[in-house]
Amino acid sequence: HRVMAGKDLLHFSDLSGDDLRNLVHLAELLKEAQKSRFTHTLLAGKTLGMIFDKSSTRTRISFEVGMLQLGGHALFLPGNMLQTGRGEPISDTAQVMSRYLDGVMIRTFRQKDVEEFAKYADIPVINGLTDEFHPCQLLADALTILEHKGRLEGITVAFIGDGNNLAHSWLQLAPKLGMNIRVATPPGYQPMQWVVEEAKLHAVQQGTEVLVTTDPERAIEGADVVYTDTWVSMGDEGEAEERLKHFEGYQVNEKLCALAKPDYVFMHCLPAHRGEEVSPDVIDGPHSIIFDQAENRLHAQKAVLAATMADASAFGEDM
Ligand code: CP
Ligand code: NVA
Repeated sequence: HRVMAGKDLLHFSDLSGDDLRNLVHLAELLKEAQKSRFTHTLLAGKTLGMIFDKSSTRTRISFEVGMLQLGGHALFLPGNMLQTGRGEPISDTAQVMSRYLDGVMIRTFRQKDVEEFAKYADIPVINGLTDEFHPCQLLADALTILEHKGRLEGITVAFIGDGNNLAHSWLQLAPKLGMNIRVATPPGYQPMQWVVEEAKLHAVQQGTEVLVTTDPERAIEGADVVYTDTWVSMGDEGEAEERLKHFEGYQVNEKLCALAKPDYVFMHCLPAHRGEEVSPDVIDGPHSIIFDQAENRLHAQKAVLAATMADASAFGEDM
């Protein structure tokens, strides 16, 4: 579990299938430990800074509670209350924070800014969502699928909706874990081309499927996991009206899900908009596992924190 010690988690490009499996496995161990009230202090005395330039319920709470459960402490740092909001350079901020903190989680708009921060920081930097990627969510999702399906390899995920941060992280994760990923978006809302190309390359090596299409029926046919996300991400609010029009016909509802496997599971990173990207009968129906998924943010975040921030000795003594 030490392969990521001192490293950043900015996206999945640099991680191997084994690294990802290790993180999911560590999340499982930490979940078991918490359920059995086994106490450990992998991050005793360590402090995480959490910079938020966008809203959050799950990410903020799971990181903050996760740090506490690991014996450490978390600081909530809204971006507009920091001097970066008044023009202090990211490079200075990163070097200053590195003198106080043991790790930083950042939720912001541009991936470029998180990468700039990581370049100047000498502590682990964790991407808590950017416009481009949401890796922490995907680790929780992998754990949730493993728990419900008993395996990841060979599982087919249909992501229906916007070619957004979630779609990108799915494309990065799935092939490395031997999963098939199909993404269906309206024309003009496809995921970034370089991410699709990279995914296809890994899929060839792994013998898995990557499909990017504008046809939701084709994507969902025989899928084990049906996944969707908001049509209007944070930062897209100005386009809300036109987006709602363009996404018509891409709603995940019972009619569409009739094409998935009979035992499919429905997933959504939340927050959800019933009647837009998903119908109430699906998200609140028997196939939905959204709250298991939300819970697993806590366990997955703890795995990321422990893997990147714990001292070698902490693992030896505790786990
Ligand atoms: N899924 C997710 O990241 O939720 P929050 O925006 O509430 O953190
Ligand atoms: N795609 C959404 C995910 C929220 C967790 C957004 O970026 O707003």
